[in-house]
Amino acid sequence: MKKWIFGSCVVAAGLATCLFSAGYRAIRSNFTAGFEIEKYELDSTLLKLETVATNLNVVWDMAWGPDNWIWFTDHDGKVSRLNPKTGQVIDILQIEDYYRKRLGLMSMVLHPDWQKHPHVFINYSHIQSDSAIVSKLVRYTYNGKKLVEPRLLYQIPGYLGHNGSRLVISKDRKILWATGDLKHKETIQNPAFANGKVLRLNLDGSIPKDNPYPGSPAWAMGFRVPQGLTYSANGNLFIAEHGDATDDEVNLVQRRKSYGWPAIAGFCDLPEERDNCPDSAVAPVIAWTPTIAPAGMDYYKGNISEWNNALLLTTLKDQSLRVLKLDAKQQKVTGEDIVFSKKYGRLRDVCVSPSGEIYISTSNRDWNPAPNFPIKTDDRIIRITRAGTIPKSARHAGKNTQKEVGDAASLYVNFCGSCHKADGKGVPGSFPSLVTSRRLAGDKDALIRFILKGSQSSTGEAMPAFGFMTDAQLAAVSSYARKQFAKIPDEISEADVARVR
Ligand code: HEC
Repeated sequence: MKKWIFGSCVVAAGLATCLFSAGYRAIRSNFTAGFEIEKYELDSTLLKLETVATNLNVVWDMAWGPDNWIWFTDHDGKVSRLNPKTGQVIDILQIEDYYRKRLGLMSMVLHPDWQKHPHVFINYSHIQSDSAIVSKLVRYTYNGKKLVEPRLLYQIPGYLGHNGSRLVISKDRKILWATGDLKHKETIQNPAFANGKVLRLNLDGSIPKDNPYPGSPAWAMGFRVPQGLTYSANGNLFIAEHGDATDDEVNLVQRRKSYGWPAIAGFCDLPEERDNCPDSAVAPVIAWTPTIAPAGMDYYKGNISEWNNALLLTTLKDQSLRVLKLDAKQQKVTGEDIVFSKKYGRLRDVCVSPSGEIYISTSNRDWNPAPNFPIKTDDRIIRITRAGTIPKSARHAGKNTQKEVGDAASLYVNFCGSCHKADGKGVPGSFPSLVTSRRLAGDKDALIRFILKGSQSSTGEAMPAFGFMTDAQLAAVSSYARKQFAKIPDEISEADVARVR
């Protein structure tokens, strides 16, 4: 286990010196702004974490600006610049026609040829007068003070959720745009529709002549809810997406490839997936069950040796930063570290500066906060840098690994809690309360059947099918939910599940 060794130290303004005493040695830290500072131990590297901005509102996207400030989005249609040295925040755009119900303003990317083209590309939700929700890609121009002259480049259908959304610009100056499946499964594998894709557009919004499907922006297909998209140093493009009840994934994106969804979740490993597995389907570089809800992702190269040549991936449900170590060719994930678990709440994006400073942003004011969040100062942007080397004698052996899925309570947390919540009360209007559920309290066989098969609710939310669980797991988690929330003590047994299945 990694451990937190320092409390926080806050100074109002001006140059301050702060003396930290760690069990084994004292560390002096000078800082000029009133940043809250904490330290965190890796195997041999001591990290410094500084909260550089507070009181924000779902920072979906951060980009390193040409001015060496961080440019970031706010869910309620705002774009701001943050001076990472002083913490000063300057607002440079308030979009008027954004629509925030769950989603709002999402991703943003800056033109790489900034001197010639000071353009910012922004993706946000909008509701039309006919009440159709659309997802807009709009280009703004920076005039030295504000973002002005909006120009709509492209518009695709939107939805309250499942929009995905992340933008990058390639070396050959195309926009790549990760889009969600909008819960329209039939069209994900059809290049005539924009959902569940990586789209590729010219910077003026037109469709490149060399796209794989003539006249279509589709570049790769078969994604569910992708919120991470980044290039590694050698130009490989990685995408991170949310699975349904199982299999969150990171994939290496290639032209014209299919990534399986909706027929295949994660690897082609279940019997019904194998029957359905086209030769062209690409396997993920890594997948997670139970799910972690991956969001923003960036490539890291720098002086934190444990993390060098890795993808850094923020997670929402798991509230952690995942460090996915890459092989020399930057094609495979060779190992994973999990850091800052449950420390800062939901993490939406990560941004690595050219000098290797890492910034992570929280998402605790979105529609689905974790227990005990948001805290007063949410949302926040936190900087992570190397603070030194831990002396050999003081190193803590062992890795942070994910807890084994076993007992009923952790099955509930991992597979049910993200929707029905730890207290079983759900999210009104989206996920029903289990405390008042007649189904949970009712006939055993009907309940087992329901959990095995899943269900689509009238609110548009779905209860995933849990047929992938073993009889023992399903018996344990449903008995737990009944005892905990419906106060019914009699067990659902493995044999009950086997009989109904
Ligand atoms: C992705 C979100 C999600 C997850 C994860 C999830 N559920 Fe659900 N659950 C729903 C939705 C949505 C409904 C309502 C479905 C409907 O109305 O048809 C629901 C309904 C239910 C009900 C019936 C509630 C009622 O209205 O009486 C039970 C019981 C239940 N879920 C148990 C579970 C258990 C046990 C797990 C974990 C193994 C689980 N759910 C995981 C979304 C989820």
